[in-house]
Amino acid sequence: MTPLRLGLLGFGTVGSSVARILVERPELADRIQLTHVFNRDVARKRVPWVPSSVTWTDNVDELLAAQPDVVVEVIGGVDPAGGWVRRALQQGAAVVTANKQLLAAQGPELLHLAVTNHTQLRFEAAVGGGVPLIHGVREGLAGDNLKGVQGILNGTSNYILSRMAGSDEAMAPVLEDARRLGYAEADPSADIDGDDAGAKLVVLAGIAFRRHLRLSDIPRRSIRPIAAADFRYARTLGCTIRQISMVEARGDGFHAFVGPALVLRGSNFGLNMGANNVVTIVGQYGGKSTFSGAGAGGPATAVAVVSDLLALTQRHRDHTEERRQDVPVDGEERRQGVPGDSEEWLPGTVVPPPPRPYYLRFVVKDRPGIVASIAASLAAQGINLDSMLQEPGYDKDALPFVMTVEACEEAALGTALQEIAAAEYHAEPPLALPILLGEDPRT
Ligand SMILES: NC(=O)c1ccc[n+]([C@@H]2O[C@H](COP(=O)([O-])OP(=O)(O)OC[C@H]3O[C@@H](n4cnc5c(N)ncnc54)[C@H](OP(=O)(O)O)[C@@H]3O)[C@@H](O)[C@H]2O)c1
Repeated sequence: MTPLRLGLLGFGTVGSSVARILVERPELADRIQLTHVFNRDVARKRVPWVPSSVTWTDNVDELLAAQPDVVVEVIGGVDPAGGWVRRALQQGAAVVTANKQLLAAQGPELLHLAVTNHTQLRFEAAVGGGVPLIHGVREGLAGDNLKGVQGILNGTSNYILSRMAGSDEAMAPVLEDARRLGYAEADPSADIDGDDAGAKLVVLAGIAFRRHLRLSDIPRRSIRPIAAADFRYARTLGCTIRQISMVEARGDGFHAFVGPALVLRGSNFGLNMGANNVVTIVGQYGGKSTFSGAGAGGPATAVAVVSDLLALTQRHRDHTEERRQDVPVDGEERRQGVPGDSEEWLPGTVVPPPPRPYYLRFVVKDRPGIVASIAASLAAQGINLDSMLQEPGYDKDALPFVMTVEACEEAALGTALQEIAAAEYHAEPPLALPILLGEDPRT
């Protein structure tokens, strides 16, 4: 079998790590041959350890004109990377990408393009970095009727929240450290406001349910309002706080959510520390299966890319063998390269969550009657209080206290909170976090 000829788009953190694995594992050379590296201003990217046979270019047309069997896209973002992925698929190349934003925005079109061009689009690296989650769900759990996916999909948020939980620090200094250590970007918005995890959730929903949920339809809540006091109150409840991403089949649609939530301290989510990812898949027959590991980082993510490449070489090998044994049917011309796949994602609808309990935290300028007025607004929506917590020793001008409420509809809670937030006694906007005990992987 001739090796698959590979064109690499992007020589940054992941792209250079992909090249590094291919160079450092010479046993892969008879299966994959890196022929081109494309990057803007490519001269500054050149490294001596890449074989001299590789063409470095800052002209994407040159790479595509060489008719690679596989294009690896590790540039990121929707444009211009999406246009280049489309062109590669249209000319019959298989594409391996780590680009969750592109898949969340254009996954159905790109998968369709792969099908119509009898080739493949693979994206193990797009979710969970080096954790073989896509493969595990797509192949390993294909026999189950999947019901839901819950997980910690963003390492930056988990680093921040797990450190705050252990140190009683405010978010600002922890975020600053996360930047210094390379866990957070200069602008951490995509990580801490939920867009990064939301895009990964769209990809997971595509794999688990073959449905495409629009990222803009998935409620995403920021972890920014979480304060040290929230961890103290959560601890009193046997819980801690993590950024949770979840999608669950519910009637004709899917409940989906990304944001901070209370989880049991002793659960897989509560025990997940640092930048690690952990994802639980729930199936009708197999129950809960949990995957965890390094969700980011050049080498770990590059492993996922190279694993996709090796899966393509296996398909290529099988196909070559078939071609050797096979006489073309009805004069049909069989393509060279990697044979296609038939995965497509149909449109899916996001629906409201089931009733669930919530943690409500208020920071108020203290005066008599506040608790009674909040309780009245909740009662007017049929929402029952479960507990009330107030630690001593806080400043009366910014007094944090917590109420937990029994399982209720999100819309009813929203109406109550709107009324409550309009009062003049708040020092900060009220915070509502779902309590995900029943949805916890160990319960
Ligand atoms: N890093 C991770 O841990 C990780 C984990 C999972 C998935 N991913 C995904 O992997 C992809 C790549 O991430 P990364 O961390 O490797 O990013 P990165 O370090 O910024 O690398 C991107 C590379 O693409 C080049 N590039 C960007 N825009 C370009 C353009 N318009 N034309 C030509 N070259 C361009 C960049 O060149 P410059 O040097 O000039 O900017 C850089 O070399 C993204 O989709 C990301 O979401 C990354």
